[in-house]
Amino acid sequence: MKLEGSIHLAGDKSISHRLLIYAALIKGKSILSNVSLCDDVLSTINVLRDCNIVVDIKDKKIIIVGGTLKSPNKELNMGNSGTSARLILGLLVGQNISAKIKGDSSLSKRPMNRVIIPMRQAGAEIKSNNGFLPIEIISGIKEPIVYNEKTKSAQVKSSLMLAAIGNKSNSRISFHISTRDHSENFLRYMKNNINKNNYLEMSSNLKLNPFNINIPGDFSNASFLIGAALIFPNSGIKIINTLYNEYRIGFLNILKRMGANIEVRNIKHNYGEASCDLVIKYSSKLKNVSIGKSEIIKMIDEIPILSIVGALSEGNLIIDDAYELRCKESDRIKAICTNLKNMGADIIEKENGFILKGGERLYSTIIKDFDDHRISMAFHILNLYLNNNITDYKSDLASISFPEYNLLLRDLIK
Ligand code: S3P
Repeated sequence: MKLEGSIHLAGDKSISHRLLIYAALIKGKSILSNVSLCDDVLSTINVLRDCNIVVDIKDKKIIIVGGTLKSPNKELNMGNSGTSARLILGLLVGQNISAKIKGDSSLSKRPMNRVIIPMRQAGAEIKSNNGFLPIEIISGIKEPIVYNEKTKSAQVKSSLMLAAIGNKSNSRISFHISTRDHSENFLRYMKNNINKNNYLEMSSNLKLNPFNINIPGDFSNASFLIGAALIFPNSGIKIINTLYNEYRIGFLNILKRMGANIEVRNIKHNYGEASCDLVIKYSSKLKNVSIGKSEIIKMIDEIPILSIVGALSEGNLIIDDAYELRCKESDRIKAICTNLKNMGADIIEKENGFILKGGERLYSTIIKDFDDHRISMAFHILNLYLNNNITDYKSDLASISFPEYNLLLRDLIK
């Protein structure tokens, strides 16, 4: 069994959320192409509709008429999506729009104080369930946000940027330099001067006009196919027009360091973001490496699939300084360690990561998905490899971020 062929992916999820939210904020008609229609992005779309925004979906093209946000007459349901919950909270708090926000059981266990506290400091009145959902926005921020962001989170940064934009005063938000910068890139594309230091000055007179943007393919989704192509002997695949943002491609850089045969072709810069074509070939004898600090941020969502590649490579894969993995859709450190241990791997769980000794003999088992889409897809790939047999992906979880997962994989497997 091998993977072979050439594919296009639906648009990047992080960018899809952000552009939908900015289109809702900006007065006039914006058009987005190749939007991800995964469940998380559908949560953002439904919530914007609940807030009086017209969102018209025509295949992968979406037309949004923005600038008409109103307080919703029902509780806003963010489903499983942390990006929707945190960014839309910022949007509404900036616009002084009262609303109640809830999510599914996984999202209700994820920390929200990281966005609530700085907003309260800027005068917003927000109630929460001890820092968790459900949340109620009573009133928006009244003063500029002057805040040192501590959690190394792009969601927090983007949420505070949206709140600051609504407040129309000069805010100053410090943040970790290595978090994904799609919000900044969009504002630059709108011809605003956003500096590249480790703080953001949000001026009171940002230029924001309706836009027409085509979104490059989702790099995090590409990573599952990249991982699969690297482990199935004789594979060779091409992924056309995928996002190539320096804060997202840590996985590529680590794989290259491990000795993977990956070629980056045709780099283009459009609409404030870079994209490229990737050619991935099966690579035997990959060597594990040690990953920490700023590298982790650039591949935070790719650790589950990296752990699968690592389990089949030589030497120790060491993941450190990755506590945030415990605050994702599941505790991903625990989920990775539990599943790999059950399959026979030699893995030691640490507070901030794990040490995985690659190359041990592994056995196919029933995956504990921890209700987490990325855990479910990563271990599905490992089970495929261990069974050397096409087994359809039976879970609904991929639809949270990658609804095309099963079809694309079936297409590529020869
Ligand atoms: C995201 C940022 C990351 C990432 C998440 C999407 C975003 O979370 O894990 O899947 O779109 O901003 P944090 O920035 O909170 O680490």
